[in-house]
Amino acid sequence: MSAQNSPESTAATARAVTMEKLVSLCKRRGLVFPTSDIYGGLGSTFDYGPLGVELKRNVKEAWWRDMVQGRSDVIGLDSAILQHPRTWEASGHLQNFTDPLVDCKSCKQRFRADHLEGTRCPACGGELTAARQFNLMFKTFMGPLEDTANTVYLRPETAQGIFANFANVIDTQRVKLPFGVAQTGKSFRNEITPGNFIFRTREFEQMEMEFFVQPEAIEEQRWFDYWVAERFNWYVKYGIARDHLRMRPHAQDELSHYSRGTTDVEFLYPFGWGELEGIARRGSYDLDQHAQFSGKDLTYFDEEAKARYRPWVIEPAAGVDRAMLAFMIDAYDEDVVEDETRIVLRLDPRLAPIKVAVYPLLRKGGHPEKAQEIRATLSRYVTTAYDQAGSIGRRYRRQDEIGTPLGVTVDHQTIEDGTVTIRDRDTTEQQRVPIEGLVGTVIERIGWYR
Ligand code: GAP
Repeated sequence: MSAQNSPESTAATARAVTMEKLVSLCKRRGLVFPTSDIYGGLGSTFDYGPLGVELKRNVKEAWWRDMVQGRSDVIGLDSAILQHPRTWEASGHLQNFTDPLVDCKSCKQRFRADHLEGTRCPACGGELTAARQFNLMFKTFMGPLEDTANTVYLRPETAQGIFANFANVIDTQRVKLPFGVAQTGKSFRNEITPGNFIFRTREFEQMEMEFFVQPEAIEEQRWFDYWVAERFNWYVKYGIARDHLRMRPHAQDELSHYSRGTTDVEFLYPFGWGELEGIARRGSYDLDQHAQFSGKDLTYFDEEAKARYRPWVIEPAAGVDRAMLAFMIDAYDEDVVEDETRIVLRLDPRLAPIKVAVYPLLRKGGHPEKAQEIRATLSRYVTTAYDQAGSIGRRYRRQDEIGTPLGVTVDHQTIEDGTVTIRDRDTTEQQRVPIEGLVGTVIERIGWYR
């Protein structure tokens, strides 16, 4: 669903963050760069810089820990981006994964017909062509011959790799309904109107889980409600303000071709409410289709009921890039410290790209050597930075801006008694602690190590 301006979007203006400020911070500090920057960019495609890659890894790690590692009813998978082309015939994507496209006859701009409010061009008021359906899948060729027989598609969702492996999973794993199969990975859609930074791009990463349940309405509803609540709370757990989130059930006419009912978790972006994640009831649509197209048995044997059937599916489908955008938006803050305005990313410590920065107070007196030694120890457990350039206040600000939750400073007292100070990003308060036990203290304050 598209991000639209709604009356509620005015609440976003009360936040310090704007898209301009965030995009500028991301570029300046190495979180997100425009792809092919040296060639003038490649429409709405982005690269993740040294700090962005860490933040993105943490978003995926948080999802994996909560959706797979921490549960006994979900297992992981990593399927290929290129799948057999029959996959997309069976899944319905070849036929149905389309957006209605219109062109302006005057200014030649393109629009998604379902995003337009009137019947004229929103840019120049010109006349629009009739809508035609445009398939969003990227095509390429497998092998040297570029012909129809060798056409393959870049997957537009990771989900189909899970359905195509259903038989492999139940044959090799001791799974019992209800159970889920989860994966993260790149997906590609030739979007007509990408935009809003990393909100809608043509290459993006998804975190999807197919949760298989007994084919029965009460069971389906129970697990659907469970996953909608679970996924809403996941964003709150990692720092999104509850009042910046809402659940929005899809109207019948906007449902995807595979869905019997979808609820989106929406987030209040600076440009208005927009989708963050969709939770869909896919029924047995995908397994039925793949069974029919492949001729393979994709049923599950229910030992208790002594019955064979194709389970129904509840699918929480999230976007890594969108989640990362939302976490950065809600973390962005400006306050005043020692009479200076500072930008501070109040990221959940688990998501922060760098967990601890280590600083020698002076560039002499054994401070740098000790600080390097401490950094080396800490970096066996968490991501660290070392900074000895400029005043200590400036160094703190540099880390605040990228959300580093902890700063460890080595000073003359460290050399005398083996203690350091730990500074907290949010309160700026400092506490003196012994170096012995520092690893434990840091891990406890971050909440995990990676
Ligand atoms: N398997 C179901 C599925 O793909 P979807 O709602 O089309 O459902 C799921 O996509 C999530 O993937 C979205 O909620 C969004 O976070 C992310 N996503 C989809 N298209 C995207 C795009 N063009 N750019 C960035 N993220 C996108």
